[in-house]
Amino acid sequence: MTAITFTPKQPKHFITTADYTAEQLLDLVYRAVQFKVESKYNHPKPRQEQPLAGKSVALMFSKRSTRTRVATETAVSYLGGHAMFLGSQDIQLGVNESFYDTAHVVSSMVDGIMARVGGHHEIETLAKESSVPVINALSDKYHPTQILADLMTIHEYYHHKKNNAPANVYSAHTQHPRETLKGLKVAWVGDANNILQEILVAFPKCGISVSAACPSGYVCDQDVIDIAKADAEKTGTTVFFTTSPEEAVKDCDIIITDTWVSMGQEEEKKKRLLDFKGYQVTNALAQNGCAKPDWIFMHCLPRKPEEVDDEVFYSERSLVFPEAENRKWTILSVIDALLVRGEI
Ligand code: CP
Ligand code: NVA
Repeated sequence: MTAITFTPKQPKHFITTADYTAEQLLDLVYRAVQFKVESKYNHPKPRQEQPLAGKSVALMFSKRSTRTRVATETAVSYLGGHAMFLGSQDIQLGVNESFYDTAHVVSSMVDGIMARVGGHHEIETLAKESSVPVINALSDKYHPTQILADLMTIHEYYHHKKNNAPANVYSAHTQHPRETLKGLKVAWVGDANNILQEILVAFPKCGISVSAACPSGYVCDQDVIDIAKADAEKTGTTVFFTTSPEEAVKDCDIIITDTWVSMGQEEEKKKRLLDFKGYQVTNALAQNGCAKPDWIFMHCLPRKPEEVDDEVFYSERSLVFPEAENRKWTILSVIDALLVRGEI
């Protein structure tokens, strides 16, 4: 009888952009732009290539999601695969079964896992125990696929602007994002949360300075700050923290914020609304703090009115809806790299 030997798989995972070089991240963004061109502008018909045909990706989400869920399900089907949504009401995870056991069971049957969790240790356990690639769809520490979409959105905007491209021509694919992002300054006005932390580990190494205003007592993890400062030193960018929103926005090109009450923090809402008083992004804040006159606004969404007023949110400066759409192209790019090409 011939013995069959099994070699345990050592899959790669996408847990935070901190694990990748700037060139790897920007290549992912560039590939996302190519997917967008292929799908929206060149290939209105379904594509022939179906590299994930017969394969399944489990979406294990313990929290709500609109963008990440829709982006992932449509990205998987674009590549010919099957996306299986497993919400917290559907599976045993967290109620009757541990992350350790669930990782072993689910990964034995699917080809990839996209997981939205609470604590960051949960995604780390999933990744450690899974036999297939795991993508972080949000943890309390990081949100890597969001920040790839942000890099893509910034690239598209500045590429278009610098090249005076007509509004009806999509031209971002004619240049690599390594050319467009360097030298920009982002101001963050808001919570020291997962979105800011992912910005800190991604933007400075791509040549973007970050100046963050968070209220007193709201601070990022020390390891995140250390990564950001080390990257900034290498690229000649700056990373600066303050409690003053006006100080943060000085000379910035882009203002970014997020909810003051992240999922799971609902009980702290009353205190947080008081602590963040004066942090709403408005035209007056940008003007008083001397942001560049042509500053633009970004937000990962979902948005609540307290952190940004309607005048900014629905203005021409606001890139929030292209930013949301770009979740699809960047998630497609990550899935393609991890599950199809095995390149990252
Ligand atoms: N930005 C983001 O992750 O949105 P969802 O929570 O809707 O997925
Ligand atoms: N900081 C928010 C981001 C949601 C996409 C949260 O964690 O709920």
